[in-house]
Amino acid sequence: MTTLIRPLALAALFVAVSAFAASELGADERYNAVTDPLTLKECGACHMAFQPQMLPAKSWHLVMDGLSDHFGEDASLPEEPAAKIRAYLTANAADASWWGGRFMRGLDETKGPLRITETPHWIREHSHEVPASAWADPKVKSKANCVACHPRAQQGMYDDD
Ligand code: HEC
Ligand code: HEC
Repeated sequence: MTTLIRPLALAALFVAVSAFAASELGADERYNAVTDPLTLKECGACHMAFQPQMLPAKSWHLVMDGLSDHFGEDASLPEEPAAKIRAYLTANAADASWWGGRFMRGLDETKGPLRITETPHWIREHSHEVPASAWADPKVKSKANCVACHPRAQQGMYDDD
């Protein structure tokens, strides 16, 4: 009996340990892809639909309040879809859960930055590891062009560039 059970138990243990290691290693870099079809369509028309977890609810309110002058563009929407998108973004914001998110680190919630690229967490991650020359690459054009450097950004994967 024991001769059969041992290898099975070892195999099960191995699977459990590797799954744990994988989830621990990936935990910091993984964000939930946007799943709301309306948000994907309306907020993915000019740039990728950014993950709501990267800004606090306060920021998403300010973004949604200012769509008629959205970084120099008119991105305004009719009332109903705008309300639905606002609800989705704020329900999934960086501060929507009690444990918070990495993007809340060092952030002044009362200010609510309009840009992910202006959050302390984003700035910290990119100032350490991205050489200045990378921003000058003509493929990049803008800091907000996440997919230029993170090909799987839309799936919430930022650790594979
Ligand atoms: C008409 C085009 C257009 C649409 C539609 C649009 N945006 Fe934008 N958005 C822009 C432009 C232009 C910028 C500035 C990009 C840059 O700096 O390179 C921007 C930037 C942003 C940024 C800041 C990115 C950063 O961190 O620098 C956020 C957040 C954002 N948009 C959210 C939204 C949301 C939410 C929606 C849907 C309600 C939306 N956008 C729809 C054009 C658009
Ligand atoms: C010029 C290339 C470039 C652009 C554009 C860029 N990033 Fe990054 N990003 C990097 C590099 C390089 C790293 C650090 C290496 C790594 O961790 O993979 C990084 C790290 C990150 C991390 C941390 C990953 C981790 O390991 O914890 C996140 C999150 C992230 N970027 C999000 C974004 C978002 C969101 C945008 C767009 C608003 C963006 N990045 C735009 C190059 C870029």
